[in-house]
Amino acid sequence: MSKKLFIETLGCQMNVRDSEHMIAELNAKEPYELTTNSAEADLIIINTCSVRERPVHKLFSELGVFNKKKKEGAKIGVAGCTASHLGKDIIKRAPYVNFVLGARNVSKIAEVVDKDKSVEIDINYDESDFAFKDFRSSPFKAFINISIGCDKSCTFCIVPKTRGDEISIPADLIVREVEKAVVTGVKEVFLLGQNVNNYGRRFSGEHTKVNFTELLRMVSGVVGLERIRFTSPHPLHMDDEFIEEFASNPKICKSMHVPLQSGSTEILKEMKRGYTQEWFLNRVEKLREMAPGVSISTDIIVGFPGESDADFAETMKVAAEAKFEQMFSFKYSPRPHTEAAEYSNIVDGEVASARLHQLQDFQDTVVDTVMSAQVGKVHQVYFEELRAEGFVAGRSDNNFLVKVKGSEELLGQIQPVKIISSARMSLMGELLA
Ligand code: 5AD
Ligand code: SF4
Repeated sequence: MSKKLFIETLGCQMNVRDSEHMIAELNAKEPYELTTNSAEADLIIINTCSVRERPVHKLFSELGVFNKKKKEGAKIGVAGCTASHLGKDIIKRAPYVNFVLGARNVSKIAEVVDKDKSVEIDINYDESDFAFKDFRSSPFKAFINISIGCDKSCTFCIVPKTRGDEISIPADLIVREVEKAVVTGVKEVFLLGQNVNNYGRRFSGEHTKVNFTELLRMVSGVVGLERIRFTSPHPLHMDDEFIEEFASNPKICKSMHVPLQSGSTEILKEMKRGYTQEWFLNRVEKLREMAPGVSISTDIIVGFPGESDADFAETMKVAAEAKFEQMFSFKYSPRPHTEAAEYSNIVDGEVASARLHQLQDFQDTVVDTVMSAQVGKVHQVYFEELRAEGFVAGRSDNNFLVKVKGSEELLGQIQPVKIISSARMSLMGELLA
């Protein structure tokens, strides 16, 4: 009988792919069946995120619950970014944890699972050309890593300390992964990296230099592939050539994540982001001009050390000008091993909360306008998921969540849909056919 595996994935899409890699490697060793019930699992893994402090606190209470409820002899492992940054302290605080596996060491899962109290967290470990076995959680879209680690030094961000230096995965390996996915019926690939448009700066061996724009062209050459998405690009590396390729390549979905972080040039300097408010707005303008209908999403941090009312007003100004289709906004959270954690000009917590509310309330009005403007329009929707009450959901090319009445025959199809009504999070439509 196969063993049962419970795996909880927190954080970003990179973690989603890391979890798939762990499942694939474990399965190559012995068959595991996935379960959503931790109490019946033989192996429990939490794939963690450490980008903000709250999820780290939650980890230990969650581990306690898993430990209490687990079945006799079950093992518990902590993987991901918190594993990288806390290492053996996790076992000190929660001695029942069997292993700790850092975000850049997932290829070692089949080994550590049998080595009690092992801690593998080397952030210099090079997995950039590791031949992971196959496992994909969706039959419709494939997550494909194009680089590991991050070379930036944004002063708020812990990721370079949990995922190490940036190394690009060789382009021929990426194209091969895309081809393999397409053969199984996948129509959409999601290219992943901490800083995708920095692709090609460093490989670990001798490889032909290919930049991100060239990689996009190579990937779009794969016959049978219909859609390409990627995350996250960095605003600093959005050169004209990249935006032109994004706009003109019909396989590239017209939705782009452009993480602003702050609208104040002063704060951007303190964050070491490398661009100004003007550069950011210029890139947004160029994107909207070259790719009409593009959806732009962003990340914003409020309450970064030293952020004055005037700085925050600049963030509000950029939000008003850019009119992001989607925004993820966060209160600054000091993280260990980061430069900003040493800054003394801390913003009062209540002031930061009030700013966050103000920004989110404003963003809600933008989203409501964007969503209601979709009514009457036609979007090409890739159907991926059955929903309650006879609905099927999918994403438009520009990333709106669209639902129509229908059944499983629609899954895996790209169909034109006329939008008939809108809500803040999704659109309702009718098939045109
Ligand atoms: N505090 C708050 N938000 C953060 N992010 C990264 N580090 C921090 C931090 N220390 C946000 C950024 C990033 C997103 C993934 O998380 O906006 O783009
Ligand atoms: Fe992903 Fe960053 Fe969280 Fe690590 S810390 S899981 S890279 S979001």
